[in-house]
Amino acid sequence: MKKVAVFNLREFDEAEWFEKYAGDLGLELSTCPDAPDMDNIASVTEGCECADIITSQITRELMAEFARNGIRYITTRTIGYDHVDLEAAREFGIHVGNAPYGPNGVADYTVMLILMSIRKMKRILERTNIQDYTLEGIQGRELKDLTVGVIGTGRIGRTVISNLSGFGCRILAYDLYENEEVKRYGQYVSLEELWREADVITMHTPLTEENFHLVNEKTLSQMKDGVVIVNTARGALIDSEALIAGIENGKIGAAALDVVENEFGLYYYDHKSDVLSNRELAILRGFPNVTVSHHMAFYTDNYTKTVVRDSLSSCKLFMEGKKNPWEVC
Ligand code: NAI
Repeated sequence: MKKVAVFNLREFDEAEWFEKYAGDLGLELSTCPDAPDMDNIASVTEGCECADIITSQITRELMAEFARNGIRYITTRTIGYDHVDLEAAREFGIHVGNAPYGPNGVADYTVMLILMSIRKMKRILERTNIQDYTLEGIQGRELKDLTVGVIGTGRIGRTVISNLSGFGCRILAYDLYENEEVKRYGQYVSLEELWREADVITMHTPLTEENFHLVNEKTLSQMKDGVVIVNTARGALIDSEALIAGIENGKIGAAALDVVENEFGLYYYDHKSDVLSNRELAILRGFPNVTVSHHMAFYTDNYTKTVVRDSLSSCKLFMEGKKNPWEVC
């Protein structure tokens, strides 16, 4: 029976689906609750041609270790794959695949964050928790009066736009490539115009060399005063220091961040007794107008089932030498 090494396997939600789909596909699994590291790769991948991972960073060193242990295909149970060193993968002859799940989980969550931000929900929840039922300082705004700028109109961005269309807001979009469906609800504009016109900016692009720190001191200065920034894409699209400065000086009215820079190693672990070194995260969490969640916009019942099924299916296709729609490199 063909064997797949599964890292970061979560007992509480993924295990039942791994068992089901491994059975359906005729695969044997070697599982580990932790991320791959130099100490565990050799033992977990023994006898395996494929490794199944989540958003842990796969550096050149780890890639070399996977190759040394006979791994020829790595599937990540995520849409984004910027955590995998693709150059190293090519160098060591390892193929990489992702497992795109439906866009609705992240798109719904994004709309929730937009609404939470413009309605000052963090402040409201904090007040009700201590029985402070006053109104001063929690007046919100209505989406119909606002312009929402959507950066990245791929699967998630487009679903956000279609979700937003029911609220009556003006929708501006920016992408390297235009999509006809988006034009039913909004208008493509230049990035400069989007910065200038949008009351709310939400990001839905992968992280690339070109858009690293897309939101920075300079681009922030081109935005409207009181702009709301929502990021459910990748942390490094925003320069955290510039963001903090923008919040402190009042340029930014609110932010909602499902992702932050340097989140690797923090998210999905219980760190409540630890002193953490991500200062930006600590500062951002403390602001009353910043909502932070731990990179889980995707996390729905539908997601779990789909990624487990598709990541194992892609391993099977790879091992059988068949055409693999999930392969990215
Ligand atoms: P997609 O590939 O369907 O769409 C991405 C869009 O971004 C494409 O239309 C592409 O042309 C555009 N794009 C790429 N580089 C750009 C640039 N420099 N400027 C403007 N547009 C650019 O991807 P999808 O499924 O919509 O996901 C988007 C991103 O959301 C993922 O890459 C991932 O980083 C993030 N994500 C976050 C999750 C979370 O739980 N917070 C879960 C899933 C994805």
